[in-house]
Amino acid sequence: VSAFLPQLSIRTKRDGGRLADDELRAFVRGAADGSIPDYQLSALLMAIFLRGLDDRELATWADAMLHSGDVLDLSAIARPKVDKHSTGGVGDKISLPLAPAVAACGVAVPMVSGRGLGHTGGTLDKLESIPGFTVDLPVERFTELVDRLGCCLIGQTARIAPADRKLYALRDVTATVESIPLIASSIMSKKLAEGIDALVLDCKVGDGAFMTTIERARELCAAMQAIGRAAGKRVTAVLTRMDAPIGRTIGNALEVEESIEVLRGGGPADTRELTVELGAEMLALGGVASGDAARARIARALDDGSALALFGRLVEAQGGDARVIDRPREVLPRAKTRTPVLAPAAGVVSAMRSRDLGTAALLLGAGRKRTADAVDPSAGIELVAHLGDRVERGQPVAFLCHGDLPSDAVERAAALTIGAYDLGGSAPAPLSRILEVLR
Ligand code: URA
Repeated sequence: VSAFLPQLSIRTKRDGGRLADDELRAFVRGAADGSIPDYQLSALLMAIFLRGLDDRELATWADAMLHSGDVLDLSAIARPKVDKHSTGGVGDKISLPLAPAVAACGVAVPMVSGRGLGHTGGTLDKLESIPGFTVDLPVERFTELVDRLGCCLIGQTARIAPADRKLYALRDVTATVESIPLIASSIMSKKLAEGIDALVLDCKVGDGAFMTTIERARELCAAMQAIGRAAGKRVTAVLTRMDAPIGRTIGNALEVEESIEVLRGGGPADTRELTVELGAEMLALGGVASGDAARARIARALDDGSALALFGRLVEAQGGDARVIDRPREVLPRAKTRTPVLAPAAGVVSAMRSRDLGTAALLLGAGRKRTADAVDPSAGIELVAHLGDRVERGQPVAFLCHGDLPSDAVERAAALTIGAYDLGGSAPAPLSRILEVLR
């Protein structure tokens, strides 16, 4: 590998060739230890995006990413350990109510999450909108909290999936996200490093997802399940609809507030449905309960305050202001300006383009344009009108929440938001978010 020349390997992949195991491992090592510069990593990511990886290349790449850091051993924790990961959606805040709800039902949730990616938000950015909350915990503290509380949420670190920390940040800003091998290896390297027994994947499908068709989504699930199987882990994949944003908020602090509503037994019906269904699959893999009994257990944890109380303890243990569970509006940062977006005509919301809404939120400051950017935790979009709602001309369909921004950024976000609404004559039939479950 001393003769390893990154540009030669990039050229091989660019031209549609296969990379040898030692070339793939050298790139992953270079991403983790910083010895390969961002421009060469980014060029390789684009070549992989365009040319793909075959099964053997993907297995090697994913294994190298997993072993770029430590693989945790949580065998001293007696409870079953099951995690969930989403392939990325708009308004996808489900990990926030889900992790404490599942932990409250007796299954431990050691969760390594990501930041915003492309037009989608990330759990880490959401949690960090709670003042003081840190997602940067040493491995020992993570393990202790999973044992004591039943859940803990952190990011990729220098010790856990460091290659993904680097590659994920580069993909976010180089239009190299929507690639089956890159998504599969990113997700599975984090998840297999956590020391879990089993995993539920929420594979998003539709305009707001990275996989826009069910066929591509099934292909992504198959790739992730193959990586999980090779590591001896049970993986259930749930394909869920991502044709409209989840819930009524997009943006970090806004989504924390909505998650707390779900943890209080309320919140939008789709957000609760996803929490209950994904939670039930996690309880089934953990051997605690299955089917309707598992759904009832999660629903009870949301309704009786046990999941909320656990979330409060988690926030406190991770350095955050735990008063957020009782007074989210006072504790969370609030945007300086709420700019209404008005309906140009009367009608019923017959379709929503989630991708454009996610991009609008990013432009308002909820996501990043460059890897080093900080997000504005208060920025985002409050959706007043959602699928099936009737709106009158001139009525706000949404509010853009933002700080001081150049007017062209707000105008572009407003244009994307208004363009994201189809105001047709009739309401679409209300549909479950769940499309299929691959066990
Ligand atoms: N979530 C991840 O962790 N990685 C991806 O590539 C996409 C979603």
